[in-house]
Amino acid sequence: MPQFQRHFATILVLAFASALSSPQANAQEAKRPWSANPELVKKLELRRVGVNYTESKVPDYTLPNPLTANDGAAVAIAATWNASRRAELMKLFRDQVYGRRPKQEYSIQFEKTAEITDAFDGAATGRSMNAIISIADRSYSFPFVLFIPNNARGPVPAVIHINNRYFIPLDTAASKHDPFWPARTLIERGYATASFHTSNVDPDKRDGYAGGVRSFFANGQPPKDNAWRSLSAWGWAASRVLDHIESLDTIDGARVAVVGHSRGGKTSLWAACEDPRFAIAYSNNSGCGGAALSRRAYGETVRRITTNFPHWFCKPFSEYADREAELPVDQHEVIALIAPRGVYVASSDQDLWADPKGEYASLTAAAPVFQLLGKESITNPEMPALNQPRVVGQTGYHIRSGGHGLGDPDWNWFLDFADSLLK
Ligand code: GCU
Repeated sequence: MPQFQRHFATILVLAFASALSSPQANAQEAKRPWSANPELVKKLELRRVGVNYTESKVPDYTLPNPLTANDGAAVAIAATWNASRRAELMKLFRDQVYGRRPKQEYSIQFEKTAEITDAFDGAATGRSMNAIISIADRSYSFPFVLFIPNNARGPVPAVIHINNRYFIPLDTAASKHDPFWPARTLIERGYATASFHTSNVDPDKRDGYAGGVRSFFANGQPPKDNAWRSLSAWGWAASRVLDHIESLDTIDGARVAVVGHSRGGKTSLWAACEDPRFAIAYSNNSGCGGAALSRRAYGETVRRITTNFPHWFCKPFSEYADREAELPVDQHEVIALIAPRGVYVASSDQDLWADPKGEYASLTAAAPVFQLLGKESITNPEMPALNQPRVVGQTGYHIRSGGHGLGDPDWNWFLDFADSLLK
């Protein structure tokens, strides 16, 4: 290349580079729909061989239409959805994905084991509680912790937090900020809040059955292939906490959100499908078997999840390993089953295992059901930019910078959304 041309090329490159880093370019970048960082994709594919993180390798797929009934008829009015189509989908998810809950009658009691009346400098009353479930002379119990604002003018909305990581005892929750369950923040924002630990309900391990509530219901008999598994059992427990909350006149049982992260986020979505009393489900980084579309087979797949966590899903789900296209349902229909109530999905940009794009896509694919039920929801096929929450009507979404986790920014954006529906 002659020298003057080389100079010219250098000038062009420099001009381009400076344009890229100019404030305008940064502002543009901040508005650009999110997509996975190619360097991260490369790095993750080297780390986990055989896992797809490349967008162009996502298989072509057609999602099942939530508004096409099993017999092929179009579901054109809300009454048909409410009378039959919703039940058809529930049956498919129960039989093929999460399992059926038991039908036995049981009684439930709530026992207060400790109380702090001036938690958070007097802003709340905190209680240690036990939910005691009885069938004949047998019982099973699990603990939860509850905070209720002290000086509210009337019944307040509440957030039930499914803690998939650890149990946070009352004293700890009252004295130490934990971004995984920031009880004080919730109180300050006007919410009552309760939290329980999943493993206290159904141990989160492949051989934990005997010690959990599923075995209690089955009186020690092994689970049938389509019986409920841990995710459904944990969601059931969230409903039991709601039973207690509903009985309190300080909390408005019609304005309760269920929140979970990761396996807890898969749980919060399914909990809200099974229990129409939940006004909002928030799923954080829930990925495969949660908000993410199974058919994308991006990051974690049906094969991987059912191999590594056989206690989460009922047996038939594992039969769709590498045959996702044959699933009679996909995860956008979990979101559709929560409609017309609120659903908020959150991803994080380094958590490609959970497939942020697939989490967002399933939220928008549920839009026709929100619309049929007379509600607005997110329809924009382009993902929002990083750290720019998007809220439309009954649905919200954000992708946060950072890794797999639930923290203060997630809570704050979620609570802004909850405020819009519950206050
Ligand atoms: C594993 C699992 C995910 C799950 C996550 C979690 O990574 O593969 O499906 O969401 O654990 O619960 O943290």
